[in-house]
Amino acid sequence: MLKLASRFNKFPAYPLADVPVIKRELIARGVDVIDLGAGDADLAPPPATVAALKSAVDIPSMNRYGFQLGLPAYREAIAAWMKKRFGVTLDPFKEIVPLIGSKEGIAHMAFCYAGPGDATILPDPGYQPYIGGTLLAGAEPFTVPLRAENNFLVPFEDIPEDVARRTRIVYLNYPNNPTAAIASREYLLDAIRFCTERNALLVYDNAYSELAFDGYVPPSILELDGAMDIAVEFHSFSKTYNMTGWRIGWAAGNPGAIAALSRIKAFVDTGQFMVVQAAAIAALESHESWVPGNVAAFRERRDALTAALNEAGFDAKAPSASMYLWVPVPGGLSEPFARRALMEQGVVIMPGAALGAGGEGYFRAALTLPPERLRQAAVRLNSLL
Ligand SMILES: Cc1ncc(COP(=O)(O)O)c(C=O)c1O
Repeated sequence: MLKLASRFNKFPAYPLADVPVIKRELIARGVDVIDLGAGDADLAPPPATVAALKSAVDIPSMNRYGFQLGLPAYREAIAAWMKKRFGVTLDPFKEIVPLIGSKEGIAHMAFCYAGPGDATILPDPGYQPYIGGTLLAGAEPFTVPLRAENNFLVPFEDIPEDVARRTRIVYLNYPNNPTAAIASREYLLDAIRFCTERNALLVYDNAYSELAFDGYVPPSILELDGAMDIAVEFHSFSKTYNMTGWRIGWAAGNPGAIAALSRIKAFVDTGQFMVVQAAAIAALESHESWVPGNVAAFRERRDALTAALNEAGFDAKAPSASMYLWVPVPGGLSEPFARRALMEQGVVIMPGAALGAGGEGYFRAALTLPPERLRQAAVRLNSLL
């Protein structure tokens, strides 16, 4: 009989993993499902990106292995974009590495810096590769509850000394999934100070840096003093350009950490398809002309869902960034509420507890669909109250 490794049993079921199957069954039964579960909007990628993909695939050399170097022009385009957007100067070959979606890079990073006896600090609720990477590396995840009274920030002063001493990685993600919280520069400087004092790597997950509203402009951690010594920032095309399925992103920051991540990755992947890297260059080049329209579409959705949920008896706040609303479950537990939403009303939402015990009492609704569908979802959720 096959015996699973002991580490396997430490992994909980992945949030929403069973939803695609249940959704298919419901649709087959004639249910009109409204899916606000995964952060995977129905919007199209930039046309220039799709065109670049089509023309690059006709070039035979683009169909070969990318290896970790990938397409040099992709690295150079990232460096140019980081300079223009954040004012950060990066060496394209030493301080940037292409990723097959930022998720794999975030998960693999732990192998470089954390092992048995080490601790990592992660937000609870939080994006699952933080805990996944930590467990695969054999280290101990120390989850810190994100609370409304702390503005959903990790309070460094509350971390016990015996954990702080063993901390090798701190994971932070602002604008935050799932709480939609944002972090001030002062807070980020505190995080840099904590990591510098502890010789810990700061993994700064900036997947939502371009989805911000009402004049708010999220920073890069790399803009801040001291960050290049201890931080690596992860970027994704998934949300900014509606390219979730393309699996393309990058990591940038401390050159030692970038070299370490490239080395580990060389043993598990052979680089993203260079055709996708070529298309990603076109996305970066379309940023100024295309992204504002996409952000406007998300803003309209945010406003529609916030108003509709409030009308429906929920206490929803309009986030200043990200593609999520983080809403208290009126007087109840999040998992039974989300289960009822799906089975009784055909609405997929993420129960907060599925993203960690600290998420209990909330649900997350992603702005995946047009305003009209979001309003319908709010009406259906109201009937569960
Ligand atoms: C916080 C956060 N980081 C990273 C990602 C990953 O994006 P990708 O792997 O698609 O680049 C997501 C996607 O949902 C996310 O929510």
